[in-house]
Amino acid sequence: MSLSNDDLIAAATDARANAYNRYSDFAVGAALVDEHGRLYVGCNVENAAYPLGSCAEAGAISAMVQEGGRRIARIAVVGGSGEIGPCTPCGGCRQRIAEFAGDDTVVLAIDDSGAWQEYAIASLLPASFHLP
Ligand code: THU
Repeated sequence: MSLSNDDLIAAATDARANAYNRYSDFAVGAALVDEHGRLYVGCNVENAAYPLGSCAEAGAISAMVQEGGRRIARIAVVGGSGEIGPCTPCGGCRQRIAEFAGDDTVVLAIDDSGAWQEYAIASLLPASFHLP
């Protein structure tokens, strides 16, 4: 059975609960479905040496790759509230997603209130850098 957007959002919300975000206090969860219909999740993992922290999307993508997945069909990112609004992937994560995206890859951004926005990766990162 294929995973719905609600399934993906629920998985990202669960992953977000495990965020290690003691420095920013900003929790993010990500869940993606690959070309085989398999689900992977990640959360942000911060570090006292700030630049070493990793984003939720990076964790989910690593989990996919090490299980053999190579294509992100859809990815949901849960984070943000109030004025901040839904947490769209940071610039680096747009590039990470683009590496494993197809023309039809969808990015869902969801905030605390459950409000969400849907994007095509090409609209978040136009003219992206790729190698042959
Ligand atoms: N963060 C993510 O996990 N994903 C994003 O796309 C944006 C930012 C994390 C990184 C850091 O732990 C915290 O959110 C605040 O920037």
